[in-house]
Amino acid sequence: MTYPAVRPRRLRRTEALRGMVRETRVSTRGFVYPMFVCPGSGVRTEVSSMPGVYQQSVDCFLEECREVEALGIPAVILFGVPEHKDERGSEAWSPTGVVQRAIEAVRQAQLNLVVITDVCLCEYTSHGHCGIVENGQVLNDPTLALLAQEALSHARAGADIIAPSDMMDGRVGAIRSALDAGGFADLPILAYAAKYCSGFYGPFREAAQSEPKFGDRRSYQMDPANAREALREVALDLEEGADMIMVKPALAYLDIIRQVRDRFQVPVVAYNVSGEYAMVKAAARNGWLDEKRVVMEILTAIQRAGAEIVLTYHAKDVARWLACDGRGRV
Ligand code: PBG
Repeated sequence: MTYPAVRPRRLRRTEALRGMVRETRVSTRGFVYPMFVCPGSGVRTEVSSMPGVYQQSVDCFLEECREVEALGIPAVILFGVPEHKDERGSEAWSPTGVVQRAIEAVRQAQLNLVVITDVCLCEYTSHGHCGIVENGQVLNDPTLALLAQEALSHARAGADIIAPSDMMDGRVGAIRSALDAGGFADLPILAYAAKYCSGFYGPFREAAQSEPKFGDRRSYQMDPANAREALREVALDLEEGADMIMVKPALAYLDIIRQVRDRFQVPVVAYNVSGEYAMVKAAARNGWLDEKRVVMEILTAIQRAGAEIVLTYHAKDVARWLACDGRGRV
């Protein structure tokens, strides 16, 4: 049957009807809020390219965690801005490192938050690469032991989920073995499995001070042109023991999210990254876009594509908007 018997507009007539037939409902339940922890106390420095996002010392970070919890956001992911950087990124696995202290603070305060930690070396190395560098090359295998050590130190501090984002081959397996041997067989791994070499990470590198001092990350992060390779990366990470997998960035990679969702039976996570956030904020500030409307549309699209969990800097804003609207709609 076709028009005039069939009229799709009938179900779009009122908001009540539209609400009933809506296929995707954005909710805070799958949100993860990214946070940046730095040394000191009373420090709260706004990231200039990410309005509303701060580098914070542990005390201020904890305060914001209380707010995140009160807003009904279930999880945070932590990034560290260390005191000192060196060739090997040794502060990454220091028991007194910023991330380790931040995790302990959340645990001590008994907040009801899932604490995810990003495991990578780029924030901690003097050269800004995600692995050991020798003769201008990022070495794969020697880096694995350092990542495993970092993951184990996050586990000891009380992390709930370990999320390696370095893109070295074999790192999920190396981290899994180290966690198992260290008595953390129950700790899940969220692998940044399909992580593309993206210009959308620009503002994050200001936030985490992790810009590479030479070259770029093309020898380890994925080429944006490749989709089949993403499926292979996901399959490999799952074979090595990943419990959840991530596609990153989100907005320009919705096709990848969908393909991964259709092929694998594990939770699919998407990272709505810093550059995606910065674009919306900048346009909204100029009055060029309606921020609320566009943010909801973007998050709906990411979930519609198949991601049930979304890392997003918009998490607090969306939670507030949804709370203001009793019907869970903005
Ligand atoms: C660390 C890491 C990056 C991001 C998350 N973990 C930056 C990078 O790979 O350069 C980016 C997140 C964002 O842009 O919001 N390797």
